Amino acid sequence: MRKLLALALLLLSPTLSWSLDQALEAKIGALLGRMTLEEKLGQLQQLGGPGTQPAPPNYSEAARKGRLGSVLTLLGSKNINELQKAALESRLKIPILFGFDVIHGYRTIFPMPLAEAASWEPSLAEKAAQIAAAEAYAAGVRWTFAPMVDIARDPRWGRIMEGSGEDPYLGSVFAAARVRGFQGTDYSEPGRLAACAKHWAAYGAAEAGRDYNTADVSERTLREVYFPPFKAAVDAGVATFMSAFNDLDGLPASANPWTLTQVLRKEWGFEGFVVSDYESIKELIKHGVAADAAGAALAALPAGVDMEMVSDTFMASVPTLVQQGELSMETVNEAVRRVLRIKMRLGLFERPFAEDLPEAETMKKPEYLAAAKEAADKSLVLLKNDGPTLPFTKDLKTLVVVGPLAADTTSMLGWWAGDGKPEDAITLLDGLRRKLPTASVKQFQGCDIDCLSDGGFAEAVEAAKSADAVVLALGESYTMSGEAASRSSIDLPGHQLELALAVLAAGKPTAVVLFNGRPMTLSKLHEKAPAILEAWFPGTMGGHSVADALFGDVNPGGKLPSTFPRNLGQVPLYYNHKNTGRPALNPTDRYLSKYIDSPNAPLYPFGWGLSYTTFALKDLSLDQKTIPPSGSIQASVTVENTGPVAGDEVVQLYIRDAVSSVSRPVRELKGFQRVTLKPGEQRRVGFALGPKELGAYDQEMRWKVEPGTFQVFAGTSSAGGLEASFDVLSK
Ligand code: BGC
Repeated sequence: MRKLLALALLLLSPTLSWSLDQALEAKIGALLGRMTLEEKLGQLQQLGGPGTQPAPPNYSEAARKGRLGSVLTLLGSKNINELQKAALESRLKIPILFGFDVIHGYRTIFPMPLAEAASWEPSLAEKAAQIAAAEAYAAGVRWTFAPMVDIARDPRWGRIMEGSGEDPYLGSVFAAARVRGFQGTDYSEPGRLAACAKHWAAYGAAEAGRDYNTADVSERTLREVYFPPFKAAVDAGVATFMSAFNDLDGLPASANPWTLTQVLRKEWGFEGFVVSDYESIKELIKHGVAADAAGAALAALPAGVDMEMVSDTFMASVPTLVQQGELSMETVNEAVRRVLRIKMRLGLFERPFAEDLPEAETMKKPEYLAAAKEAADKSLVLLKNDGPTLPFTKDLKTLVVVGPLAADTTSMLGWWAGDGKPEDAITLLDGLRRKLPTASVKQFQGCDIDCLSDGGFAEAVEAAKSADAVVLALGESYTMSGEAASRSSIDLPGHQLELALAVLAAGKPTAVVLFNGRPMTLSKLHEKAPAILEAWFPGTMGGHSVADALFGDVNPGGKLPSTFPRNLGQVPLYYNHKNTGRPALNPTDRYLSKYIDSPNAPLYPFGWGLSYTTFALKDLSLDQKTIPPSGSIQASVTVENTGPVAGDEVVQLYIRDAVSSVSRPVRELKGFQRVTLKPGEQRRVGFALGPKELGAYDQEMRWKVEPGTFQVFAGTSSAGGLEASFDVLSK
């Protein structure tokens, strides 16, 4: 009923296409008028490419006939230009759009996206995307399948590494920053790419964290948690969207008119095109919502998917469907129109070819590597530092490095590493040897990544006993996260924990460095290890960043964008949960919402991260005591570096709508700022809270600021902090 009402309102409202460039639309219309149905379907077809190999001959044939609109993963200017030449020999000379997964770098690899989000510094992600775009553009790529903006609340899901974590606000800020980074203000400029917000929708809500699995999410949670980063991408002008693999409330995302047309186009005014995910249209058959290719095409195209990735149900079935009157030519035309719109906005007709510049002029430029280093520095999260153990002194004579990840070049880059080359990566061992040219830096693997055998433990432990300090490089290999890499345990793999405990028992100053693509369960390690540094998959320059941090040349200042649970049974565990009618405030009362065998609280909460200095927050103030529902309020707080060295703190602002017509989360992040302060330095940080931050969907799914008390929390993580409150008046 609600959906029908919204539809009726939209039909009555003026068209959303007012912002379209009429001259461009006329040009598209003229071109469309000259196209045969086969040529139209050609524009809706994307084929998978062979990477660095030349495209197969049947691709050139299809291109020459105008039957190939886009190719993914064809790399190298020569390969790209050869196929483009064939497309330009076609009757209407419509260029092919070349796309690739440029997720966290093309050749210079930046920290994986979740790690970048741990920097809480969106300008850094924007710059990373800009550099990735420049390198990819130089190689002939014009479209990236990024940013991935899926919210993930389940660390079993391997693709959590590709997004910005669990929070819709942080996720939205990073989504917008990355779109700006890839596209700039005008993506037809050389060095920019068309971006693609993916995977629409609720792909990250896969049940049990199993990739591609069903999602079943209420409309409220979709609109409040899973949709906002996508909306932020639309508002930032993202050129394209990708429809997801999963089904959602009974409808696969690649055949869902509510998400693809009602929300995306009608409510949000998105003007670009939607590409399906890899064969996700053909997969409608396996989902059981289509009997055959024709049924799949008929479910996807009218729902709002415009371009088909890899499978070819449109190409194969649409002519008959149109002929039989089951599909209107207008539906086909609209999809083609959207694809041509983006090709034209991209300037592809004017500049279809890749420039063939020498690699040294376009890839891994010194300033790109410096940016990747800064990004890795700022993504590091110091989870624990008792003693303090870190930073180590540079005067030490013998450093022993143990663990399977000290010298794994590929895992430094992480999954989705573009055209990144493992041999470019600085490993932790490289970084440490460069940092300590006169010390003896000895490496003992202890075991391989799966760590099934303890055969190498004794040697490592012996070496640790004679060391001045020890670094344990533990975690996951890059293949353990990313696509199709869900884990049913998020512990350290195999016997890595036992290796760590044996080495820690040697009693030397020891720091654990974790390389991993997801939050892990680290309770035992946390109990035994004095210092833990989360390095994620830090990219090409990661080894230098970690070595700098271990020896105090970089002061870690990142914060977790995802909760680290104590144990897997707590999952899904996220900070912005509801209070329930029985919050677990009294540990002795049985009948509360809690476990009998575990605390509710995580090991490390969202927003957590330490530093080599200390910070204090004080004087949280609000500039008003009451505001009308349309009003804004300013919250200010002072942050002071109370410790011995310069460092970064991320001041985080949360709200809670204390009484509302619908239950609200116990906290919601609404602002943050990363500041760098010298010892003793203070800064006043301000956050504006208006209807956008204070509102929520009411029972009729209308965005509204409800009267009543709001609490405001200023903290250095999602737990604790200073508190104030104000009232929203009824008028
Ligand atoms: C992934 C997408 C990716 C596409 C093309 C799919 O399997 O889900 O994220 O963009 O492949 O590589």
